[in-house]
Amino acid sequence: MYIYNFGSINIDYVYKVDHFVRPGETLACSSVTSFAGGKGYNQTIALARAGASVKHIGTIGSDGRGMVETLTQEGVDVSNIAVVPDLQTGHAIIQVVPDGQNSIIVAAGANFATGREFVEKALKTASSKDFLLVQNETSCVAEAIEIARQQNVKVALNPSPMDKKILELPLDKVDCFLVNEEEAFSLSGFKDAPESVLGKLHLQFPDACVIMTLGSDGVIAIEPTGAVSRADAYKVNAVDTTAAGDTFTGYFLASVTNGESVKEALEIASAAAAISVTRPGASPSIPYKKEVLDWLRMQRK
Ligand code: RIB
Repeated sequence: MYIYNFGSINIDYVYKVDHFVRPGETLACSSVTSFAGGKGYNQTIALARAGASVKHIGTIGSDGRGMVETLTQEGVDVSNIAVVPDLQTGHAIIQVVPDGQNSIIVAAGANFATGREFVEKALKTASSKDFLLVQNETSCVAEAIEIARQQNVKVALNPSPMDKKILELPLDKVDCFLVNEEEAFSLSGFKDAPESVLGKLHLQFPDACVIMTLGSDGVIAIEPTGAVSRADAYKVNAVDTTAAGDTFTGYFLASVTNGESVKEALEIASAAAAISVTRPGASPSIPYKKEVLDWLRMQRK
């Protein structure tokens, strides 16, 4: 089985600052570094490092070729990544403050140039054994979900970054939602305790699994059967939280499709995300599965 990840590929420019820049302020940074990122790209790296077979679908400009080479080295099928030389690869401007929190501006660039026909072709051989994973940083997300469902491919949605477009997607065709608290509030139109919001989402999408991350309060999930699972967050010294959610998404999906229970998948994904925040950058911070399992063993001792 394959996980087809139709997702963004960005060049991240990370500025270390002592506070987020305020309106009207000019702020000097202590360092600037560039990393390979994009929610789609990070999730593909996490899936691959977690042991899944991944096919990435997306579009870049010539300036993104190096990132595609990295995906190849990670064992990812890159035959459905289009290179459009006239376009610029997507990029992100990321401020990171001393406690590791970030704020991000994204310029879509080539990520918005993928057309329906390209997605159709990329998913041509996908079948009911496979999953399509999508986020909200590319064009044609709705079309991709429709095409997948026509072929009985299961669909996982990480509605990030959340905006109005998400609510216009064919959400009834999604099998697995991976959301943070804010995204859960927007999807459900309901702001309450996490358990209540999760219950509301279960009523809205009874055939889907809903995974809701709660930051330092861990994660809760509900399956179509109504079974609820939880996992605690791990306490670590955060350096850069960029891609923690992406690491979680990739590791969770790779683990459940590899036959782990939802509870076990939540624990593995939480551990992977915890490790990722202890390192700078987006995709380079994502650990390999062996490290995650060793780390988890130590935590459980
Ligand atoms: O989730 C983190 C990612 O969001 C960054 O890598 C950046 O590119 C933006 O897409």
